[in-house]
Amino acid sequence: MKRVVHVVSSAMLMITSTVVAFDIQSNKNLAVYWGQNSYGASHPDYTDHWQQRLAHYCKDSVIDTIHIAFLTEFYGEGDLPSINLSNTCNSGNSAEFPGTQLLDCSFIASDIEECQVAGKIITLSIGGATGGSVVFQNDIKATEYAQVIWDTFLGGTSSTRPFGTAVLDGIDMDIEGGSQTGYAPFLKALRKLMDASEKKFYLTAAPQCVFPDANLGDTLNAVGFDAVYVQFYNNWCGVQNYDNPDAWNFGTWDNWAKTVSPNRDVKVYLGAPASSSAGSGYVDAGRLSTIILETMTQYSSFGGVMLWDASQAYANNRYDESVKNALVQSETVVGPTPTSTTATETFTTTSPTASPTSCTGMKYWKKSSIYVKGNRVKYRGHLWMAKWWTRDDVPGGDADVWVDEGSC
Ligand SMILES: *[C@@H]1O[C@H](CO)[C@@H](O)[C@H](O)[C@H]1NC(C)=O
Repeated sequence: MKRVVHVVSSAMLMITSTVVAFDIQSNKNLAVYWGQNSYGASHPDYTDHWQQRLAHYCKDSVIDTIHIAFLTEFYGEGDLPSINLSNTCNSGNSAEFPGTQLLDCSFIASDIEECQVAGKIITLSIGGATGGSVVFQNDIKATEYAQVIWDTFLGGTSSTRPFGTAVLDGIDMDIEGGSQTGYAPFLKALRKLMDASEKKFYLTAAPQCVFPDANLGDTLNAVGFDAVYVQFYNNWCGVQNYDNPDAWNFGTWDNWAKTVSPNRDVKVYLGAPASSSAGSGYVDAGRLSTIILETMTQYSSFGGVMLWDASQAYANNRYDESVKNALVQSETVVGPTPTSTTATETFTTTSPTASPTSCTGMKYWKKSSIYVKGNRVKYRGHLWMAKWWTRDDVPGGDADVWVDEGSC
C-alpha cells in the first residue's frame, strides 16, 4: 500500500513539472494549424505522413497552440455553421447533425481535452483559403451570431456541438476573401461572452503580411485581439525576402501593434510555411532560426511563431521542433553588447580578408538602442560597425550609418 502511494505521488510530480500552462505573454510560443491535412493535399500517395488525429500533435511540449482549421460557412442548413477537417472528420466517416450540414466530430473531444491537459490551447479557426462563405449580411445578424459560436464551440450549451463536451479556448479569424461587414460587432459580442466567463478565452487573427490586410485590416483596427499570426508566406513580404528591407515588414506590424491596435499589448507572431509544399517562400529550419532570433530581439511585440500546418511540419523532419528550439534557446544565443574597445580588440587580430567574420559575443541590432561610433552588432547574418552616433537606423538601410563587415 505504502509503495503504491509512493509511485502515484512521484508520477504526479513528474506531470506537474513537465506541464507548463499556456502563457500569452511569452515570446516563445509556437502556434500550428491542424485540420486541413496540407501534406496530404500535396502528396496524395504518401498516406503515412497524412494528418493524424489531434492528440498525436500534443505528445510533447513543442507546440503551444493548435488552431483547428476550418469553420468554412456561417449559414449552412438550419442557419448553423459547417466545418471541414479534411481526412480526420468528413461526411464519409462522420454524420451531420439532423437538419444541418454540421459534422458531428465529437470523437475529437477527448483529443482536445488531452491537449488542454498538456497545457496547450486549442482554438477554432474561421475561414481559410477555400472558405468564402464566412460573411454577414449586417451588424445585427453578426452580433446575434456570436451566441451561435459561443453555444456551438465555446462556453455555451447546444445539442449540436461538433466537439461534444470539449470547450475550445478561442476563435481565430483566418479571412482570405469576402467582406468584413459585421466582423467587428461579431467579435466584440463574442468577447463580451468570453469576458463573462471564469475561463480565459482568446481572440486571434491571421492576416497576410501585406499591410494593411485587405480582408481583415478594418477589423484589426477595431477589435482588441490577443494575438495576430501574420502570414509571412505566399507574399512578397514573406520570410524568403527577409534580407530585403523594402519587402520584409515585421516592423510595420510591430508598429501597428503598439500604436493602432485597440489592444496595445497584442502579440505579433511570425507565420511561416512548415515545408516547401506548404506555401511559397519556405526557408529551411536553420535560416528561419536566424530570422526568429533577430526578429524577437528587435521587436517587443513578438509573441512567437505560427506554422502552416501540423502535417507538413511533422513530415518535414519535425520542422516544428527546430523552430521551438530556436525560440527557447534565444537567451543563450544573444550575448551582451561589447564595448567599442572590446570589439576593436577582438577584430584587429582578424585578417581583413578572413571569411567568415566572427560574430561571437556580438549582440543583435535593436531598434531604439543607442549606438556610438565603433559599436558592432549582428544583423541579418552580417557584422556591422556604427560610423557615428545612431538610433533607429537599421544596418543596411538608407541612412548609411553602418559599415558592413561581412557575413558571419
Ligand atoms: C474539405 O477540405 C478539403 C481540403 O481543403 C477539400 O479538398 C474538400 O473538398 C473539402 N470538403 C468539403 C465537403 O467542402
